[in-house]
Amino acid sequence: MYNAGKIIIGIVIFLALITAPFWYNLGRPSAPPKLEIGTQEKQCVESKAFMQAKHMVLLDQWRDEVVRDGKRIYVNSTGKQFNMSLQNTCTKCHSSKTKFCDRCHTYLNVAPNCWDCHIAPKEQEKLAGRSDK
Ligand code: HEC
Ligand code: HEC
Ligand code: HEC
Repeated sequence: MYNAGKIIIGIVIFLALITAPFWYNLGRPSAPPKLEIGTQEKQCVESKAFMQAKHMVLLDQWRDEVVRDGKRIYVNSTGKQFNMSLQNTCTKCHSSKTKFCDRCHTYLNVAPNCWDCHIAPKEQEKLAGRSDK
């Protein structure tokens, strides 16, 4: 007769070993993505903390002011002026949509539809196979 107890212990050890990477990573978020800012400029439209938390709100505000009020100049908290445009302002500095916007959004599972209509920097068109246009 074989020893059922030993077999069970063996199975438990085996399972512990093959699932070790899973337990080891439990509770740790996967490494945040490395972002390529895409510009030599040092300052964003507003502070980094503001942009991280509120860039979507800012973009909504820009769209409304341009489309509804025909206003195109944004004056930031330090008095600097920006053209309120997604494709002519944000992507002028953030020249890689894939290595900046997308990397963060994919990591956080957000999928803005803006690029259905707005033009992304060139790189993205090639990747999407639209370079033939
Ligand atoms: C003049 C160049 C410039 C423009 C225009 C610009 N950015 Fe930035 N952006 C930067 C720089 C430089 C940083 C990094 C700032 C820092 O590290 O303090 C940054 C940081 C950010 C961050 C935070 C990134 C992180 O590391 O967490 C977000 C989000 C962002 N920008 C979104 C936008 C959006 C959306 C727009 C358009 C509304 C925009 N930016 C326009 C230069 C720019
Ligand atoms: C550091 C991370 C980070 C970067 C970089 C970043 N975003 Fe975001 N973005 C977020 C997060 C987080 C949300 C979702 C916020 C929420 O759901 O309330 C978001 C949401 C948005 C939304 C609203 C989407 C929706 O469905 O409501 C837009 C528009 C947007 N981002 C545009 C951009 C653009 C354009 C860039 C590049 C210039 C960019 N973001 C770069 C983190 C980032
Ligand atoms: C169905 C098409 C469509 C979609 C999707 C769309 N937009 Fe627009 N957007 C437009 C049009 C058309 C204008 C008007 C262009 C103008 O007057 O310069 C505009 C204007 C804007 C403007 C001001 C002008 C400029 O050059 O950027 C901003 C900012 C903007 N949209 C942001 C966004 C953001 C952020 C998203 C995603 C959350 C988005 N849009 C999604 C069609 C769209």
